[in-house]
Order: sequence, then structure tokens, then C-alpha cells
Amino acid sequence: MKVCRRETFNAAHRLYNPSFDDAKNDAIFGKCNNLNYHGHNYAILVCLDGPIDPETGYVIDLKILSDILDEEVKEPFDHRNLNLDCPEFENLIPTAENITLVIWNKLRKRLDSKYEIEVTLWETERNSVFYNGK
Ligand code: NI
Repeated sequence: MKVCRRETFNAAHRLYNPSFDDAKNDAIFGKCNNLNYHGHNYAILVCLDGPIDPETGYVIDLKILSDILDEEVKEPFDHRNLNLDCPEFENLIPTAENITLVIWNKLRKRLDSKYEIEVTLWETERNSVFYNGK
């Protein structure tokens, strides 16, 4: 059984690799390498796959998942500059892939191992990334 919670957050980022020169960063990251950053309205869907607890009828009380997402996603990332404000990305390029990986790892530490965790992150209406630890 799978239960899911959707959240949104707004954040700025710049994609560049400090070990590349400007020309190579421009070639690889294009507009996303814009020196003065740019923003996205991110949406995230977190699904937990696990058994129904026969005593509660829940896979998980979604209020618990909501509180964890507030602490691990909304509070650290919403209205932030991911490159400048978030230590998670001090040495990690804040692509949708890496943001998803960071969030998945944070959630893995907070949730019982009986749950398989699936994270889908939309960076735009059309582009999304999915990670389930595999
Ligand atoms: Ni971007």
C-alpha cells in the first residue's frame, strides 16, 4: 500500500561546476548557469510504500509525514538560494537530480525502515525526477 504527500517550495539556484571554465559551464548548463541565479516553483511528491497497521488502519499518519517534510524540505529550502543558503549544496550542484537525492537521504534517516520511500520532484511543469533509493 502506498500513501503520498505533495508539497511545494520556491527556490533559486545556479548550475555550474567550479572546476569548469566559463565557456564549458555555459556549454553544459546554458541559461541555468546564469550568474545571478534563477528560480523555480518546485513540487515534490513523497510516497511511502509499506503495510497497513492493523491497529490504526494507516500506513502512516500523514500528519507525521507532513511535519517531517516541513522540517526537512520546506524550512531549509523554501524561499532560499540553494547554492548560497543551503549547506547541502555547498559542494553539490543543485540540479533536480541532486535535490531529489538530498531529500530522499534526509527522509530515509527520519522514517522507519519498513517504508520504501519514493520521491518525485518537478522542477518545471514538464520536467521531473524520480528516486526510490535504487
Ligand atoms: Ni534551474
